[in-house]
Amino acid sequence: MTVSRDHFPQDFKWGVATSSFQIEGAHDSDGKGPSIWDTFCDIEGKIADASNGHVACEHYTRWPEDVELITSLGVNAYRFSMSWPRVQPDGQGAWNEAGFAFYDQLIAALEKRGIELHLTLNHWDLPQSLQDQGGWDNREICAHFTRYATEVARRFGRRVHSICTHNEPWVIAILGYEQGIFAPGIQSRKQAMQAMHHLLLSHGMALQAMRELGLTTAMGIVLNLSPIYPASDDPQDVAKARLDDGLILRLYMDALYKGVYPQDVIEHLGADAPQSQPGDLATIAQNNDFLGVNYYTRNFSSCGNPWDVASTGNTVTDMGWEVYPHGLTELLCRLHHDYQPKRLWVTENGAAFKDQLVNGVVDDAQRLAYIRDHIAATHDAMVQGVPVGAYFAWSLMDNFEWASGYAKRFGLVHVDFETQQRTLKNSALWYRNFLSRT
Ligand code: FCB
Repeated sequence: MTVSRDHFPQDFKWGVATSSFQIEGAHDSDGKGPSIWDTFCDIEGKIADASNGHVACEHYTRWPEDVELITSLGVNAYRFSMSWPRVQPDGQGAWNEAGFAFYDQLIAALEKRGIELHLTLNHWDLPQSLQDQGGWDNREICAHFTRYATEVARRFGRRVHSICTHNEPWVIAILGYEQGIFAPGIQSRKQAMQAMHHLLLSHGMALQAMRELGLTTAMGIVLNLSPIYPASDDPQDVAKARLDDGLILRLYMDALYKGVYPQDVIEHLGADAPQSQPGDLATIAQNNDFLGVNYYTRNFSSCGNPWDVASTGNTVTDMGWEVYPHGLTELLCRLHHDYQPKRLWVTENGAAFKDQLVNGVVDDAQRLAYIRDHIAATHDAMVQGVPVGAYFAWSLMDNFEWASGYAKRFGLVHVDFETQQRTLKNSALWYRNFLSRT
């Protein structure tokens, strides 16, 4: 069956997503402080093309054009993030009014066009001065984050539809503190697990504090999740898949929705398990208004040879990720079954492919198919009774793809990084067409 927009409820949110560091540029304009990603990009060898976020998509000055782009797609929702060091340069002292003014005008322009705003407080660009005090590994950060969250909610809470505390705590903790391939570049499992705990704890504390403001804004968190399968039916692979699922999904979901860390994972972590204080897990387990799910691919666990993605026979993206839409259906059904989040939103979904701009056209047939098939997979979960309320394509436009620099393009809109020219790819034209037809 070909899915069309009218198979979805009237109030379904259709959007595109971005994040501050990946698009804004203007890394030191108007009083912005350095973020950990500014620092990380300066370390040789960390970013594939030795680039940084100094210019990115120049969204900081080109935002009026980008607002027109978003509007032209016909979406009714936009997911974006606020750069903490832009609005509070050192993460704990004075507010930077010029930084807030930037978001104020952006929000006003989108409000005027009737586009719902979905604001993320932490999409990774932490103020460097907080990192100098240990970053997410230092428990004191929870109070600083709560103060930042409360100030943003006080200023903008009535104007945005939702506030997400953290984007993908697993990525921050594991890629940033255990593997060291993302900022801040630390390699310690113990610190990673402590960072994870403080991310979750600060989520709970921030929600409690923001809710005291009496807002109707939806509040929640966004996780990167994917189903994990054993690479074979060898019991060792099966056990490994169960543990990997624990480390990636259950650790976060059990804490957020059941107020416990899963025992098998804690035992496995041993001395690296997070240290928590009495009451922490009750604070973490807030009643979230939504759970945001970022889904890109599925994973396999194996105790022997590493899983060969080519063996699936499915398309593989420029990131090396298998295209597997059905994994999204399975994941949404499983989350609903095991945890019953009030509402599930697909907050990111998309693919990088090697695009070519030829005579003003980007014929990105593979991305188009990816988006189309994942929208259908979302619908499949809804048919099975899962309360999914939103789909956001990642991303509005090509941008700074973290450690991959500008080499990996996820945009529905092509960006020429020499001229900053934006061009709608065929996937964008398809999405616009899909959204305009009922
Ligand atoms: C997610 C990030 C997002 C983007 C996509 C490709 O993990 O949230 O910023 O980089 O991956």
